[in-house]
Amino acid sequence: MTTTPKTLRAGVVGLGWAGQQHMAAFAGAEGVELVGLAGMEDAPLATLGDLYGIAAEHRYHDWKDLVANGELDVISIATPTTLHRPIAVAALDAGLHVLSEKPMAENGTAAREMVEAAERNDRVLDVSFNHRQRGDVQTLKKLVDAGVLGEIYYAKAGWLRREGIPGLGSWFTRKATAGGGPLMDIGVHMLDMALFLLGEPTVTSATAATYAEFGPRGRGGSSNATMVKTGVTAGAFDVEDLSTAFLRLDGGGTLLLESSWAQWIPRDEAYVTLYGSEGGATLAWGGTQLEPWRTLDIRTEKDGIPAVLDPAVPPDGQHVASVRQFLDKVASSDFSNHRGHQALSRALVVDACYASAAQGSEVTLS
Ligand SMILES: NC(=O)c1ccc[n+]([C@@H]2O[C@H](COP(=O)([O-])OP(=O)(O)OC[C@H]3O[C@@H](n4cnc5c(N)ncnc54)[C@H](O)[C@@H]3O)[C@@H](O)[C@H]2O)c1
Repeated sequence: MTTTPKTLRAGVVGLGWAGQQHMAAFAGAEGVELVGLAGMEDAPLATLGDLYGIAAEHRYHDWKDLVANGELDVISIATPTTLHRPIAVAALDAGLHVLSEKPMAENGTAAREMVEAAERNDRVLDVSFNHRQRGDVQTLKKLVDAGVLGEIYYAKAGWLRREGIPGLGSWFTRKATAGGGPLMDIGVHMLDMALFLLGEPTVTSATAATYAEFGPRGRGGSSNATMVKTGVTAGAFDVEDLSTAFLRLDGGGTLLLESSWAQWIPRDEAYVTLYGSEGGATLAWGGTQLEPWRTLDIRTEKDGIPAVLDPAVPPDGQHVASVRQFLDKVASSDFSNHRGHQALSRALVVDACYASAAQGSEVTLS
């Protein structure tokens, strides 16, 4: 006898750009129904509630009411970063499966509490690293796994913006609500992407430095509409606006990671470069909304002849793919490999970078 899979009931906390990606992904996915929303802003709560047909009694201002609603199976968290842990732990303790936005939490201690809550409740905890779902990243990953680049011994990854501080003076630029600056915000995407491409090596040590030359002077704020935030207090900036880190990996490899919200550079740029024994690759993107650019350059040898590969690249998966993977994990019979450990490892590396920057010397990860 076949049984019809249950339709999962989903809620989303957070009505900003990130929350809206989760709403759209749930609304477009099979086997799940978006039934609840929470967020503090009246107008988007009404507009998004109407757009997704959310019953009036399932639209909340406070995340606690959504978790307590009792009808959800899964919840997405797309709030200021320091709310990820309390919402995730409460939701996991209420028996929900949780998909959190990146960064997982403000530090490794909070991230570990989330993992422990997933373990004690036997629920799925996942973190949306949507950039690894890009078509070029997925293609490069296949080539790396097929051994086309040989052994990769060095990698560089970075995301640098010309003028891209999100919500200058908002929760994004305060340590108490964001945990950190661009390393926590966009550097963590590049860290995740690099470690994913490299096959999940363990980071054994970090030597990092952080700087804040733009934000404290009120410079470098983004004019991109999706990065304009509410709750702005002039001068509220106590995180870095540039970080650089040198990471040692088990097996002898090294990874250079740079992240910046604002810099005197000609254009925004994000990149990963892999240096292997049999080939090398760079994927990069940047520019503006009007003039975006992206490249994927892969070099190796074919029969002793230097060759540049031009693989067919599928479309980007982005949040739709992150949400689909989360739902597939929830649909699996064994959640033991889906407790957020990989995202926790990213949080611990970020911790080590900030600790190294503060003390001015290398920090070893145990
Ligand atoms: N993966 C990505 O590409 C990506 C992009 C942007 C942001 N993010 C992440 O998503 C998260 C949200 O970022 P954003 O840019 O959408 O932020 P945002 O400021 O635009 O939205 C935050 C939302 O959280 C809600 N919120 C705050 N406190 C709440 C509470 N007590 N109860 C209910 N709702 C509450 C706010 O009302 C708001 O709707 C952050 O963790 C950020 O790092 C990820």
